Amino acid sequence: DFKYKLITHRGFHLISAIHSPEEVDRIQNWEIQDSDVFVVTYPKSGTIWLQQILSLIEARGDIEATKDQLNSERMPWIELIGSEEKFISATPPRIRVTHLQHRFVPISLRQGTGKVIYVARNPKDILVSYYHFHKYACMLETPKDFNEFYEKFMEGQVYGNCWFEHIKTWYSHRDEMNFLYITYEDMIKDLRSEVERICVFLGKDLSENELEDVVKHSTFKNMLNNKQANYQQIPISLLDQQNGSFLRKGTVGDWKNHFTVAQSEQFDQVFQEKMKDVLLSFVWD
Ligand code: PPS
Repeated sequence: DFKYKLITHRGFHLISAIHSPEEVDRIQNWEIQDSDVFVVTYPKSGTIWLQQILSLIEARGDIEATKDQLNSERMPWIELIGSEEKFISATPPRIRVTHLQHRFVPISLRQGTGKVIYVARNPKDILVSYYHFHKYACMLETPKDFNEFYEKFMEGQVYGNCWFEHIKTWYSHRDEMNFLYITYEDMIKDLRSEVERICVFLGKDLSENELEDVVKHSTFKNMLNNKQANYQQIPISLLDQQNGSFLRKGTVGDWKNHFTVAQSEQFDQVFQEKMKDVLLSFVWD
């Protein structure tokens, strides 16, 4: 079914069921304000985790105050069909998420208006998380097996394209933007410190108790049981939630349960080659 295929637009793969090339092209002309915040991720790097953390920071830790809306509606993807209208009419602070490459986002954001939080994750775990996502996402082609998906990911034949390109282009432009770089693994290790860094970046002065509450309600377990945060309301036409979950495992190093030794070695080689000019290191387990 065509509806569930990727479409390639200006060298970038979009999901035909939820994206429109024409609308994606309009994003670069959006007018940005200093209070606008964009969470940028390659898929499966912790986007919905940031939606929860930022919702709670805005609510100063008060979980009840976040229940008026689903996180996916409060902080929608900018590339989804219909997002422009919502962006224009929203009251500040407008917080949005995106998987788009740098060249597609608003020009004034790229030139330093507004803020960007880039969330990175070790790409082996991303690949595994994305594999499982493809198995239950009805809007995406079901992989035959892990090996097939491994090849597809390495070739960048997925929404988000090539992981290396995504992180390298965003990171190389960081000095032109108000840019915060955080990692999934640092959040796993010490969520509180990372929440504090985000607060400093956003100019939010939360009390000790408020910070504690943000952290408490952003744990994997608490998000899993929170329907405003767990994405279980996504329609079955897009995600078959009987066969998978957005909040799947939430750990570091699950790639070891999926990669063969040969795949891991090949991946390391590609990583070294592609990342040789980039001063970024990752936690792999
Ligand atoms: S998507 O489809 O791109 O928006 O997915 P994304 O939200 O970026 O990534 C989903 C993965 O993030 C994990 N996740 C968390 N891990 C630990 N703690 C918390 N609170 C948390 N919230 C989301 C989620 O489980 C997915 O990773 P995997 O490895 O599949 O579990």
